[in-house]
Amino acid sequence: MRTYIKDLEVKKGEVVTINCWIDVRRDQGKLIFLDFRDMTGYVQGVVLPSKTEEGIATMATASKLRSEWVVEITGKVNPRPDKNIQTDKQNGSIELEVLGIVVINEAATPPIDVHTDGREIGEESRLTYRYLDLRRPRLQKNFRVRSAVTMFVRNWLTKEGFIEIETPLLTKFTHDGARGFLVPSRLENGKFYALPQSPQQYKQLLMVSGFEKYFQIARCLRDEDSRGDRQPEFTQLDMEMSFVNREDVMALNEKLLIELVKTITPEKKIQEIPFPRFTYKEAMEKYNSDKPDIRTDKTDPNLLAFCWVTDFPFFEKTDTDGWTFSHNPFSAPKPEHMNMLMNKENVADILTTQYDIVLNGFEAGGGSIRNHNPAALRKVLEIMGYDEAKIHSGFGHMLEALGYGAPSHGGIAWGLDRVMAILQNEPNIREVIAFAKTGEGRELMMESPSEVSKGQLEELGLMVKESKKIK
Ligand code: AMO
Repeated sequence: MRTYIKDLEVKKGEVVTINCWIDVRRDQGKLIFLDFRDMTGYVQGVVLPSKTEEGIATMATASKLRSEWVVEITGKVNPRPDKNIQTDKQNGSIELEVLGIVVINEAATPPIDVHTDGREIGEESRLTYRYLDLRRPRLQKNFRVRSAVTMFVRNWLTKEGFIEIETPLLTKFTHDGARGFLVPSRLENGKFYALPQSPQQYKQLLMVSGFEKYFQIARCLRDEDSRGDRQPEFTQLDMEMSFVNREDVMALNEKLLIELVKTITPEKKIQEIPFPRFTYKEAMEKYNSDKPDIRTDKTDPNLLAFCWVTDFPFFEKTDTDGWTFSHNPFSAPKPEHMNMLMNKENVADILTTQYDIVLNGFEAGGGSIRNHNPAALRKVLEIMGYDEAKIHSGFGHMLEALGYGAPSHGGIAWGLDRVMAILQNEPNIREVIAFAKTGEGRELMMESPSEVSKGQLEELGLMVKESKKIK
């Protein structure tokens, strides 16, 4: 039976079998030292000289082993002599005396070093060999902590009465956000699905359905240029609640964030509780930013400075002197500004119920109370100059749904990758996304995007212009 490396220290004197990688091999002539690695950690092994037939065979196998070979080791857990004990190291008080080695798989020399923190290696190589890059301890830790965070959030929200519901990835193009990705339909040539930029419309429809408290660890897709804090494919912790006001959503999220940090990353210190709040106007006047970095000590990697920013203008001017939404077309205006919206007056002065949660100068999440009254949503679309056809094709289903007894509702979405990157002291979100894309939106390991065959294009009813092809 397999023993995990983390469990060896309590098995002194026993003969065990471990499955692992060779992390490092040091040949000292008569002795061979081997560091073994599995998902639970590291242990040092030693192959001692022996005159028995088995011992000679084990030494012969050990001398062939190289870093990253995969092996099954049978060995005796010996206490280390006092002078060799390393109290600061996992399994520092033991050594595995190797008695038998089965080679499960050999390994070619890895093109990148997987033992360092990887910061010295070019990102192209790291992303091309991402499955190897992910072996490094720093990344192993990032994903284990990330899993703990999503598990904590799931349990916490479930206890609060939320349920997790999955929403479609093949959906419809609407004019409600950033540039989206399109997927051609094979069954209906000339028609396209859109990949969701967020589950915004579906989560509102789930409120119409009466679920009242929804959440989802949701994949979102946006065809925008990547940066340190932006990927074309990213994850939100998305939630929506019925019969709530702005304070309810903000209080619930503040509590969740505080308990999450205390439980999963107790080494972190939250600068100020309750989280300070700024209106958009105050933030701009005081910090010249709508996502101010209010840390009092920017050199402290364990300081988390959360703040809320509220009262954003609902609309902003477009290049062509029309209006567009600043955050989310489905938001309600502040209650005292509802009349201005309904009368389409003083459009520049209408403030939205939008609230952003800012962490160390990054927009970590945002949400709002929604317009549950279809007439109010329609006014928003009219102010943006959408004609009846555009309103009908993009928003007809929402306007209709809101007419069948929609509760008041609101929600928020965290950029989970951003939150994780900050909690893990990573400079960019690629370090917390297993198979991240480059700044140009390419995935270097599988080499996507890629060309497809003429036959596939034919089936989809598509042709690619020669002049548009990137060679
Ligand atoms: P928004 O567009 O503000 O709101 O997105 C919510 C949060 O998601 C994160 N985020 C991103 N993270 C990585 N890469 C990206 N390209 C990216 N784009 C956004 C940010 C942001 O704060 N449906 C609304 C939420 C709501 O109102 O409930 C929405 O998607 O941290």
